[in-house]
Amino acid sequence: MTNSLRALGIDLLSAQFIADPYPFYDRLRSAQPILYDAEWNLWFFSAYEDIAALLRDRRLGRDLDGAAKPDPRTPFGWLHAHSLMEKEPPDHTRLRGLVNKAFTPARVEALRPLIERTAHRLLDEVVQRGEMDLLADFAEPLPVLVIADLLGVPQEVRPRLRPWSNRIVAMYELSPSPEDAHCANRAVTEFAACLRGLAAERKLQPQDDLISALVAAEEQGSRLSEDELIATCILLLNAGHEATVNAIANGMLALFHHPDQYALLRRSPHLLKSAVEEMLRYDSPLQLFRRWVREDMEYKGNGLRKGGQVALLYAAGNRDPARFPDPHRFDITRSDNPHLTFGMGIHYCVGAPLARLEMQVAVQALLERLPNLRLAQEAVEYRPGYVIRGLKALPVLF
Ligand code: HEM
Repeated sequence: MTNSLRALGIDLLSAQFIADPYPFYDRLRSAQPILYDAEWNLWFFSAYEDIAALLRDRRLGRDLDGAAKPDPRTPFGWLHAHSLMEKEPPDHTRLRGLVNKAFTPARVEALRPLIERTAHRLLDEVVQRGEMDLLADFAEPLPVLVIADLLGVPQEVRPRLRPWSNRIVAMYELSPSPEDAHCANRAVTEFAACLRGLAAERKLQPQDDLISALVAAEEQGSRLSEDELIATCILLLNAGHEATVNAIANGMLALFHHPDQYALLRRSPHLLKSAVEEMLRYDSPLQLFRRWVREDMEYKGNGLRKGGQVALLYAAGNRDPARFPDPHRFDITRSDNPHLTFGMGIHYCVGAPLARLEMQVAVQALLERLPNLRLAQEAVEYRPGYVIRGLKALPVLF
């Protein structure tokens, strides 16, 4: 069977698709869950079982010698080349080991007071107003302030983190423009210069923060090069808020759209953890990730050639009826919920414990402090781009 996204009426870049990709995913999964699309030169996988299997298949990976990667002579290409997320073992194992330590469940739980304080301070500022943009006034600043605190980024630099990150992650969309590349290169140049300065300061005067911990690892010798140190700090600062911002906003929107579930959560706060997992499954802030085919291979009768690329549609897997009964139902009591939103396998999100805690604290604070919290308007608009799924704004009343 040979098909194409176009023949199935699926245009990944259309406004209709971006507004609600889920019916299109169903169409794709039912018609052809494994589809090679010549226009994108990508294999698209939309069934849970296949995505989960391929994420654990070492014949695929984030890196491949000789693959068409961003030019390492450009600032973005430099970042890409030194990012732990783009590496495979043994480099991946070495870098990941250093970062893992900072994000164990116990280390992350110790951050709870900081996250709670930050959430309540943000709500203190709006509580008298009776309205806010839940995205700009709450969901955005909360994860940015937390990750900045964790790394030890000074106050004056913090307002620049989100714009830098937005410009860099635009390069992870399916077809970034030359203008996107230009903006990303400028952002990387400024961001890296800033972090080199901070790392130099921490070398002279270590603090109790993650930049200092990584600097110490670099100084201990061959464990981390200077380029890797800077690239890792940038990755943590970006990944440490980009998806969490949208996960909080997409999750709250799902709650507003399902008044029975919203009322249930208000009545039953013990459902907070499963509600957050359902928010993550139901509307993932990251819709797909790609992998290189590292050797010629056969998968369910399909021949995948070395050097090819696959697109694993995590958000489509999350709505696969073969894995999640009644998958389009937003059910905060769902207990069997092994969603793909944090990935699987060796690149499984290192920040997942932190993201979960931030979401739990955020939702709890919103519900406790704003008892009459509701949407200000029905219509919502999504940011352009498809891989990162996020709202432009989320106006609410309370
Ligand atoms: C709701 C919020 C978040 C979501 C949905 C999310 C999702 C993901 C996903 C899907 C991956 C794997 C990518 C792949 O399969 O190729 C990943 C990797 C990663 N995430 Fe997250 N993430 C979130 C929050 C965070 C936070 C708070 C941090 C901060 C510390 C973080 C740091 C990372 C890093 C460093 C990686 C690369 C791991 C590796 O390649 O080994 N993420 N994230």
